[in-house]
Amino acid sequence: MASSTLSPATTSQLCSSKSAMFSSAQALAVKPRRTQMVGKGKGMRITCQASSIAADRVPDMGKRKLMNLLLLGAISLPSGFMLVPYTTFFVPPGSGSGAGGQVAKDALGNDVIASEWIKTHGPGDKTLTQGLKGDPTYLVVEKDRTLATYGINAVCTHLGCVVPFNTAENKFICPCHGSQYNEQGKVVRGPAPLSLALAHADIDEGKVVFVPWVETDFRTGDAPWWS
Ligand code: FES
Repeated sequence: MASSTLSPATTSQLCSSKSAMFSSAQALAVKPRRTQMVGKGKGMRITCQASSIAADRVPDMGKRKLMNLLLLGAISLPSGFMLVPYTTFFVPPGSGSGAGGQVAKDALGNDVIASEWIKTHGPGDKTLTQGLKGDPTYLVVEKDRTLATYGINAVCTHLGCVVPFNTAENKFICPCHGSQYNEQGKVVRGPAPLSLALAHADIDEGKVVFVPWVETDFRTGDAPWWS
């Protein structure tokens, strides 16, 4: 007949029987507060007390720290990869040059190489490129087949339509409400209130670079309204 016995025991005395002594590791695997009868008839009595899992199964502090570091790495790495594009979304486009400018891009998104551009664009040509802040900006070829030192922002100063250049009229004529600008982008007919914005068109290492125009507008003699 089984009997229940609760007795205080030290770690090394957690389990004992009449015929054998069990190690603490073995003892701790047995349910607590139960005295079990093992064996038929002989009444081999085992008294056990346990309060936790075996000591050799408890990770030591070093392992815990390692697991925490692995968990932290598993969370922070993908989070970091997600944060990078999210953060760069709020950063203005890179300058592409050391002077705070923007390398001009052609219709295919390639950098505009000045020498190549001159070969394929004749005198008086005005072709749209991607300029500062991504604005459509005309790159102008002068009559002597050199690049003009300024680019003309194609965004209409009335309500923001992109203004095409009309070769026959030698003007920029807005298709939205009919505003007109001369060949340098100076407004000559409303409702547009202001001339088209300018940007410097510099050449850096062979590439055309648009740089913000902060000086006086040479077409009007006024301070630049866009800066
Ligand atoms: S948007 Fe160009 S004239 Fe109105």
